[in-house]
Amino acid sequence: MAPTDGPVSLLVVDDEESIRNAVRKFLILQGHEVAVAATGEEALAILRRQKITGILLDVNLPGTNGIDLVPRILELEPAAAILMLTAVNDATSAALCMQRGALDYLLKPIDLVHLGRAIAGALEKRRTLIEGQQVTRRLEEEVALRVAERRQNQEIQERISVATLEALVNALEAKDPYLRGHSARVADLSASVAAHLARPDEEIEIIRTAGRLHDIGKIGIREEILNKQGPLSDEEYEHVKQHVLVGSQILAPLVHLKQVITCVRSHHERWDGRGYPDRLAAEAIPLGARVIGAVEIFDALTTSRPYQEKMSPEEAVERMRDLVGTAIDPEIHEALEAVVARRQALVFLDDVQL
Ligand SMILES: [Fe+2]
Repeated sequence: MAPTDGPVSLLVVDDEESIRNAVRKFLILQGHEVAVAATGEEALAILRRQKITGILLDVNLPGTNGIDLVPRILELEPAAAILMLTAVNDATSAALCMQRGALDYLLKPIDLVHLGRAIAGALEKRRTLIEGQQVTRRLEEEVALRVAERRQNQEIQERISVATLEALVNALEAKDPYLRGHSARVADLSASVAAHLARPDEEIEIIRTAGRLHDIGKIGIREEILNKQGPLSDEEYEHVKQHVLVGSQILAPLVHLKQVITCVRSHHERWDGRGYPDRLAAEAIPLGARVIGAVEIFDALTTSRPYQEKMSPEEAVERMRDLVGTAIDPEIHEALEAVVARRQALVFLDDVQL
């Protein structure tokens, strides 16, 4: 008998009392703890009560037979080493038992030396199996941990890269009193409009980030043009239009911002296809870009500019009605109107409570 770690609990299931007792005595002499059962039901009851490592299982039993017991035993004790011990010398039964998870098929009568060796072999097989499963489990856990760590690091890096770019936009806008806070306001209102349109959370966050970064390309626009008071010449306007391309080029290396980049590139497209840079029309324009484009107009109308008095939010939405179907997607104008009305109602409530 091969050495084992401490006494091993074995269960002998046989309807013949003389065999049960003889095998039991032998196994106790071998240093095992032994339980016995005369039927399958009795065996299952023992398995529910105590930890069993190996089982000697007869095939012909009253009630549930040994072949059908194999899967039920393994359900209760998946690591159990099952050895069939039977007078049924039949290849089909043997194949069935092994297929269902038994480790050996022994024929009665069996000499005790042979039985002892078979039990030792089965227990060894079981131990190797468990060790293999443990190694696999540890490896899987290790891999899952590494993947999670990598993902977490990647997310941190992604957040840092976005935060750095946002800081750049803030710095750019801080130089111009009329633009200060523009991107942050566009981001928040665009996210609210997207939420009103019942877009999924992930898409709302993409639109929010795109709102924060939509004008980052202005970093590549000549300052005298950015700060110019009054109308731009054709050449100057062409130069300003480059900001959508410069912006998407700046962001291009950040592959995780793929959808954000398409919004940045397309936020000056128009519903009627007369925008830039790709002259996309209607739903060919990414939804986020349509939202940001509309909200940007709203923000321009509701903040004071050197050439214009600022409008109230309601007036701005009303004025934008003229652009519905040409520059602005009708559905987005409707959503913007609803969001603005809700915001104004909240402001009103706040004032009343004060
Ligand atoms: Fe822009």
